[in-house]
Amino acid sequence: MTDGFKVAEVGDVEPGQMIMVEVKSEQILLANVDGEIFAVNGVCTHAGCSLYGGGLEGNLVECPCHIAVFDVKTGAAISGPAMESIESYPVRIDGKDVIVTLE
Ligand code: FES
Repeated sequence: MTDGFKVAEVGDVEPGQMIMVEVKSEQILLANVDGEIFAVNGVCTHAGCSLYGGGLEGNLVECPCHIAVFDVKTGAAISGPAMESIESYPVRIDGKDVIVTLE
């Protein structure tokens, strides 16, 4: 397990919005669901598209390429064609800082 990385400030990602950040060469999608920020791997497990270009509806992000849907709270693949979940990462808020831990 590694230490957490500051990846953004709380105000950088508004409720209902997503941003993409890079940590140790990993594309990490930060999604704000009703004021709570979640972090998942931002690369779709189907064919590698960036989930950043997709839509966020509640806690569900839809891949822009072939409309697979993932739960940003857990990383679970909700509907195909992606069968594999995306990784989800622990998020901690420290003051204004959003800290993500890659394990
Ligand atoms: S690359 Fe995401 S659904 Fe195909």
